[in-house]
Amino acid sequence: MSLLFHSTAARLPVWRSLFAADGEPLIEGEDAVTDPAGVTAIACWVPPADLSRYPNLRAVISVGAGVDHLPPLPDGVALSRTLAPGIEAMVRDWVVMATLMLHRDMPAYLEQARAGDWCSHPVRLASSRRVGILGMGRIGALAAESLQSLGFEVAGLSRSERTGAVPIFAASQIDAFLARSDLLVCLLPLTPETRGILNAKTLSALPRGAGLIHAGRGAHLDPEALRAALDDGQISAAMLDVTDPEPLPQGHWMWRDPRVIVTPHVGANTDAAEGARHALAVMRALRDGTPLPGLVDRARGY
Ligand code: GLV
Repeated sequence: MSLLFHSTAARLPVWRSLFAADGEPLIEGEDAVTDPAGVTAIACWVPPADLSRYPNLRAVISVGAGVDHLPPLPDGVALSRTLAPGIEAMVRDWVVMATLMLHRDMPAYLEQARAGDWCSHPVRLASSRRVGILGMGRIGALAAESLQSLGFEVAGLSRSERTGAVPIFAASQIDAFLARSDLLVCLLPLTPETRGILNAKTLSALPRGAGLIHAGRGAHLDPEALRAALDDGQISAAMLDVTDPEPLPQGHWMWRDPRVIVTPHVGANTDAAEGARHALAVMRALRDGTPLPGLVDRARGY
């Protein structure tokens, strides 16, 4: 019963030492597999192409928070996504930074700074701005708490019933939720229901001049709808950490438009030790027959 490491070389030394400290065997890459029947779990971003090679495979672990990039898995193979406080805190930090940047007109000031233009815009209190968080999972809840502590009036929208520090709108109340979101944050997982959710209709349901902060997945957003909304003044600016495709092609209008700031999917990068600890917890659960940490419901998509 062993875990096959199929992640980045940079993470390997940390995984090696944490697995050794726990007495848990680690197979260091597909080339090191001597007995495919001994592989119980695979930790990866994208799994090896031929999983039928591993007849006793019981789990694939995504070394990241998202799972939308993974192909369908053979029957009986569970999917676990890495639960790590570090990933959640990193994305929270990016969201807080991006929200503050839009709140404090940084896209305009960056453009002015390049032109040496000393010109001020009205400064507003955070408490005068309503932030709406689409997707109130672990990261959404963390971001909501931090933004609320900065004074923003925060609400979330969630498909599942949730209670928490901020008001939560149900999916059926999306219009009311959008209508009160001066700054819209997208942290949704990518599923068939959420693909393309940031479209002309949703953007037009926001208050005029709203800002968009997007750290979900590129395929949530219709870039042409964003461009039209920016040109029309419906959206004032956007901060995007995700695009479709990634990398965003050179010369794409979103790179050049001063109202849009793109960062290259850097919201979070799974810390090697956190990833290894999650994988060790999955191996323990497989041995003990207890529920897998981070178990993904593939029908739901997260
Ligand atoms: C990054 O986007 C991740 O899913 O971990």
